[in-house]
Amino acid sequence: MSGHLTGKQRHRRILWMRAIVFCVLVCLLIVLIVLGVTKVWNDPGEKAASADASEVLSESSEESESSEPIESSESADSSGSSESSKSIESSESYKPSESYESSEPAESSEQPESSEPAESSEQPESSEPAESSKPSESSEEKITWYEDALGRYRYIDPDACDWNLILVNKQNRLAENLDVHTAWYGEEEVDERIYEALRQMLEDGERDSDRRFLVCSGYRTVDLQTYLFERFLGIIKEESPSLTPDEAYLRAASEVAYPGASEHNTGLAVDICAVDFQLLEREFENTSEAKWLKAHCAEYGFILRYPDGREDITGYVYEPWHFRYVGKDAAAEIMERGITLEEYLAERNLP
Ligand code: DAL
Ligand code: ZN
Repeated sequence: MSGHLTGKQRHRRILWMRAIVFCVLVCLLIVLIVLGVTKVWNDPGEKAASADASEVLSESSEESESSEPIESSESADSSGSSESSKSIESSESYKPSESYESSEPAESSEQPESSEPAESSEQPESSEPAESSKPSESSEEKITWYEDALGRYRYIDPDACDWNLILVNKQNRLAENLDVHTAWYGEEEVDERIYEALRQMLEDGERDSDRRFLVCSGYRTVDLQTYLFERFLGIIKEESPSLTPDEAYLRAASEVAYPGASEHNTGLAVDICAVDFQLLEREFENTSEAKWLKAHCAEYGFILRYPDGREDITGYVYEPWHFRYVGKDAAAEIMERGITLEEYLAERNLP
């Protein structure tokens, strides 16, 4: 009897076998899905470039209290240059690779006395490298260029341009803390010359509406920027260990500016978010606060400094929260034409 199955038994056995095969396939499918999800979750590239920069930047004022106090305008005034010089020296840990260290300034006319940029990309110890980029008396421009993983750069002479049109980016860096006289806006400091425009803009933007703005980052010393940059670079390296040092450095510097290359070091830039949306993330652009700011900032002399899709010019990823004061005339033209500050200044041959 055991050797011979009835038709019914045979049918049952076939059904059981089909059920088992089906279960095995379902299990396999589940395993594949779980593996796929885990891979996406663990993809360091995805995570490092988004939320973490936002966290680093949005926590900047808290961090400054706990470990790198923001200097008041008085202290910046009195100790700005020595502090700055120190902070730049402390940038050892995120120096670019050897290949850049050996690069020479492209158009060297004068070397800062106490530094050797031709042999090393280390920042000059002297806090006066901008001296060498001052136009000569014959107004013929003599600029000392340096180079690192971010490319060619020079030190800005803050006195060579209108205060509101100073260009700070990867190619045009501050050698030291500027002599910024700040005023407190909530918990942040800004250059006192932009305080009134900022106050007026945010007050008008909130009037008769649900919009509630929050200035979450203003003036930063070069020291604070150093701290923020190093911290973000550390996160990138930890989460993307396969990146070379230069790749990590480049990725970090596209979201958190290298010390001296941040507009926040001027006191003329502010990160503005919404009370209901306090994340410095792309999605901020969908809030009514972001939309209002973009539409009206120029009326108060501000521009959306890092527009979407202009990273190749500005050097920084889209930041719908970062507004820079340039004055009403420049702001009107820049926002109306949808150009960047870099393009606006280049059209006028301004430094
Ligand atoms: N996130 C901008 C580029 C800065 O750090 O200044
Ligand atoms: Zn900003």
